[in-house]
Amino acid sequence: MKKVLLITGGAGFIGSHVVRRFVNQYPDYQIINLDKLTYAGNLENLKDVDKKDNYTFEKGDIIDRDFIFDLFKKYNFTDVIHLAAESHVDRSISNPTEFIYTNIVGTVNLLNAARELWGKNQENKLFYHISTDEVYGSLGKEGYFVESTPYNPRSPYSSSKASSDHLVRAYYHTFNLPIVISNCSNNYGPNQFPEKLIPLAINNIKNNKKIPVYGKGENVRDWLYVEDHAGAIDLMFHKGKTGETYNIGGNNEWRNIDLIHHLCKVMDRKLGRDPGTSAKLITFVKDRAGHDLRYAIDSGKIRKELGWKPSVNFEKGLEKTVEWYLENTEWLNRIISGKYEEYYSQQYVKR
Ligand code: NAD
Ligand code: TYD
Repeated sequence: MKKVLLITGGAGFIGSHVVRRFVNQYPDYQIINLDKLTYAGNLENLKDVDKKDNYTFEKGDIIDRDFIFDLFKKYNFTDVIHLAAESHVDRSISNPTEFIYTNIVGTVNLLNAARELWGKNQENKLFYHISTDEVYGSLGKEGYFVESTPYNPRSPYSSSKASSDHLVRAYYHTFNLPIVISNCSNNYGPNQFPEKLIPLAINNIKNNKKIPVYGKGENVRDWLYVEDHAGAIDLMFHKGKTGETYNIGGNNEWRNIDLIHHLCKVMDRKLGRDPGTSAKLITFVKDRAGHDLRYAIDSGKIRKELGWKPSVNFEKGLEKTVEWYLENTEWLNRIISGKYEEYYSQQYVKR
């Protein structure tokens, strides 16, 4: 059956990799990318696919219920991959409300539209919700998040994502809406907005600016290359079991400070600087409020049931990422003007 697939948040970091993959791999699917184009959404991310026959962009806000219902009526979507979200923990600390509207109300609008417009005809339909490992809370030095780990979100961002996960699951149990959820660890790669750790550090090193490391840099994250996440999403979209949740992770834990030292070495090499030059930019700054100590995913379920595994190791992925940011200075320069400077000075200078 021909699919008419709504991808929300397709102009953002992960969404743009998902859109590109689906547009290129599935020419007989009609792909509609719905994005509000917030500060994090950028159509430049998709300039290599935006002329393709099977791709359409719609600008709009998932908070707008009437717009969402009209869009469902216009296209008769068979499937949804829902990535649109406010996604940055630090912004959720300075302005939680936006996260509640987009991540919770926006998700409910999409669920209601799918439920009402698909009605009882739910065969060959899927509402696939993209979530994060942060819903599980913070680990100590040991242990891993599995799919049955109780939710314990601790930031406004992770709480809003946890709420949306609960609602998606509730629509499955209460209304039989066919859903899949996946919870992924930290992504990195091309096109990530330079407010997140890796692109922020690359940009600062390039410009000889200080690299702000929160607290003592001892917090641990499990990093996955963004194209491996897009590959897992493709697999789960086609093979995931309805009603199920899958964890996705890189099995690649790094303390922030170790990661930054590693990145500094790569940057010294790429920029032709003497070894040790970039590391001098490392600066410890006031810790993030409620900073989760460690995230680590057990991705045994998707590995065993669907045969997925990451294909890009961290050294190679980081190398590719650094090269992309150094080659795409225009993309970066356009993003870091105006509003970004304003955000940066509020986040780091006025602490
Ligand atoms: P991002 O911030 O780069 O992109 C989000 C996109 O959503 C942007 O294009 C933005 O314009 C759009 N958007 C925001 N509010 C909207 C609204 N009200 N209506 C329509 N569009 C709106 O985020 P990302 O890092 O690409 O994350 C995408 C999804 O993956 C999110 O749901 C996030 O929670 C999840 N996730 C991210 C990571 C990560 O490491 N980045 C890890 C696991 C899960
Ligand atoms: P981030 O990229 O914001 O992702 P998340 O908070 O969703 O894991 O941050 C990754 C880690 O890096 C996290 O432990 C916070 C830390 N961090 C810094 O030390 N300095 C920074 O400037 C930023 C943005 C993050």
